[in-house]
Amino acid sequence: MQLRRFQDRDLIDVWQVATESLREHYDPTLFTQLVPFWPEGLIVIEDMGRTIAFIFGVLSGPQQARVLMLAVDRRFRNMGLGTLLTQELFRECAKKGVRQVSLEVRASNIGAQRFYQRLGFFVVRRLAHYYSDGEDGILMMRYL
Ligand SMILES: CC(C)(COP(=O)(O)OP(=O)(O)OC[C@H]1O[C@@H](n2cnc3c(N)ncnc32)[C@H](O)[C@@H]1OP(=O)(O)O)[C@@H](O)C(=O)NCCC(=O)NCCS
Repeated sequence: MQLRRFQDRDLIDVWQVATESLREHYDPTLFTQLVPFWPEGLIVIEDMGRTIAFIFGVLSGPQQARVLMLAVDRRFRNMGLGTLLTQELFRECAKKGVRQVSLEVRASNIGAQRFYQRLGFFVVRRLAHYYSDGEDGILMMRYL
């Protein structure tokens, strides 16, 4: 397995992992539009020539970053890959002088909230009807 920065050839696999793992559907052009602003913010894990996990962070303000997406192929979960990706993003954030990382997670996604809490995130507030299907979001944050 290899952890590395995203390359254009990863796009199809990344898109597949995102669609299988995340209930919110994003426009694929989101990647091509946002990545050039901070290429180090999109980090992937490749296994046997296939991209099986990724984290997508964007710079969201002075000294601030936001995790837009994090997903690990179902068959590779609970092996520490999500943790590795998040920690690598923290390292890239530190290089950019980022002091605060935020993210939103579905209110029903208790597993992911626990996962992020274990990584040092805390709940800031609930975001009413944040998702396109009306579900509330939970805004979480971590200081670096
Ligand atoms: C949330 C998600 C990214 C976590 O990825 P992951 O690779 O499974 O995460 P990790 O393996 O690092 O950690 C998950 C759990 O496995 C445990 N774990 C970590 N390393 C482990 C190892 N080597 N062996 C066994 N268990 C391990 C951790 O204790 C953790 O437990 P927790 O549920 O109490 O937090 C993944 O479940 C996922 O893709 N979910 C669907 C999409 C999603 O919900 N994304 C987040 C919202 S944007």
